[in-house]
Amino acid sequence: MTKPLRPRTQLVHGGTMRSQFGETSEALFLTSGYVYETMEAAVKRFTNEEPGFIYSRFANPTIRMFEERMALLEGAEDARATATGMAAVTSALLCCLKSGDHVLSSQALFGSCRFVIEELLPRYGITSTLVDGRDLNAWKAAIQPNTKIVFLESPSNPTLEIIDVRAVAEIAHSVGALLMVDNVFATPILQRPLEQGADIVVYSATKHIDGQGRCLGGVILSSKKWIDENLHNFMRQTGPSISPFNAWVMLKSLETLDLRVREHARNAEIVAKFLEGHPKVARVLYPGLKSHPQHELAMSQMAMGGGIVAFEIRGGREETFRFGNALKVIKISNNLGDSKSLITHPATTTHQRLTAEQRATVGIGEGTVRLSVGLEDVQDLIEDLDTALTQA
Ligand SMILES: Cc1ncc(COP(=O)(O)O)c(C=O)c1O
Repeated sequence: MTKPLRPRTQLVHGGTMRSQFGETSEALFLTSGYVYETMEAAVKRFTNEEPGFIYSRFANPTIRMFEERMALLEGAEDARATATGMAAVTSALLCCLKSGDHVLSSQALFGSCRFVIEELLPRYGITSTLVDGRDLNAWKAAIQPNTKIVFLESPSNPTLEIIDVRAVAEIAHSVGALLMVDNVFATPILQRPLEQGADIVVYSATKHIDGQGRCLGGVILSSKKWIDENLHNFMRQTGPSISPFNAWVMLKSLETLDLRVREHARNAEIVAKFLEGHPKVARVLYPGLKSHPQHELAMSQMAMGGGIVAFEIRGGREETFRFGNALKVIKISNNLGDSKSLITHPATTTHQRLTAEQRATVGIGEGTVRLSVGLEDVQDLIEDLDTALTQA
């Protein structure tokens, strides 16, 4: 038997299917359908008597290469790619829930995830409870016999709260619920939730997996059994599938994911340390800093602090907007995980849907900014921040 290849090798070679032309770079099969030799061959394909592709809403060779490479990276039995991260979150939830079920989630979530859990699911008779994810007693108190999915994001968007994945997995499993982790901020390079007890992992591949701000995409990873019994048919029939083109971009991006994510994290740590000492900055939240209230927990489940830094400008919205508008290298954008450094004001963009009170409970104030640290020379980023902070 050949030895299993190490993760960085899998990122370059994993899942590759070569065509008859023996191409070096993975082929882009930009096709919606497939041609059968005969009518009888089509019948056999549809009845599963013969293997092969039927329609790209169901499966496509380029998408399959991306899914297999992701599964190898995550240490999951199988994966499905979706059109966006939100398609991944929504499909993963809807494919296994029904009226009468309950979902338990942390409250510090990306705005759209919070909408799906708090507003969309209850329309279909699926109740939900949101708790302070840092408080294990709150999870224990809110779990119910009909809780089917426990959902969390760690670190959270945008204030980088850390949730104890192992402990929450135990609480979920005590009632037979499955733990679903949105691992976008940590990335598969820095955090491996399946090894920590999670049952399902979801990604917005739009972020670090693409890493260059080009394509939308999502991924759902789990056991083969859960995917076969829940997700497989849901995706075939409802169609949240990714475009083969986007899957190809993501597949090629995976080849450099490890290098990029570690460099993002190295830059982010330097930036966070610089901000921590700045008089115009009231507070810095970065899991890799000792000052982060959950630094030890973060380092027990993440290999590095990640590429995102949240911080608070002294003053309010006016000072914060002045600072943001003065930045030259760092761009204003609500996306993240790009090679370009991007900054956003969550209270007026990604989290504007929440009430001021809800924002306050998850630590988002008028001075809070979220910085996705890119791959530029970190000294240019520090000089840009320093100049803009003097104008705040
Ligand atoms: C934590 C998190 N989950 C999910 C999403 C949704 O991903 P997408 O924009 O690809 O739909 C995002 C970002 O937008 C996010 O930051």
